[in-house]
Amino acid sequence: MKSQRIKKLNEEIIESFSQEKLLLGHGRLDSKLMLIGEAPGAREIELRQPFVGQAGRHLDKFLEAVDIGRKDVYITNVVKYRPIKENKKTGRLSNRTPTKEEIDNFKGYLYEEVIIVNPKIVVTLGNIPLQALFNENLKIGEIHGALMKVQLWDRWYKVFPLYHPAAVIYRPELREVYLEDLFALKEIVDNI
Ligand code: URA
Repeated sequence: MKSQRIKKLNEEIIESFSQEKLLLGHGRLDSKLMLIGEAPGAREIELRQPFVGQAGRHLDKFLEAVDIGRKDVYITNVVKYRPIKENKKTGRLSNRTPTKEEIDNFKGYLYEEVIIVNPKIVVTLGNIPLQALFNENLKIGEIHGALMKVQLWDRWYKVFPLYHPAAVIYRPELREVYLEDLFALKEIVDNI
């Protein structure tokens, strides 16, 4: 049973990272789509839900545009705690990109999560999940919006790379591209 396998996996993650506040995967295990983000932010850790901050609001709007609801997807992150850095002057904490070591520490768990959920399509959001899945330095700017395939252990999975939804906050010109990519994704999802 998927739910038992995920529970066991989550227990292993909790045990390995017992010193951290974690956010584990969320959503229905029978979803066709599995979305993979980078790592949770402060709001996600606080509410124990993925993509509930600013990036999440963008993600929701994009998904709505192609009539995909949160309830239709399973969402997880590569790194399951919030990577932070401290501003030495102000003492304020902010998010940072996960290090290669942090990504490597979570990779095996992520592969297992994909294998257990076994979605029709894995949607990576930004560079980090793409690099974690393919084990290569792939760049989202070069390969977004086209269907790819990755082998995890003995099975192949379809992967659709999307920009990270936060990218449009910093680069509003990506909005059009994002929507085009989503319509391409929707077309694929509707036909499987
Ligand atoms: N950004 C991510 O990559 N994941 C989240 O859950 C929230 C913001």
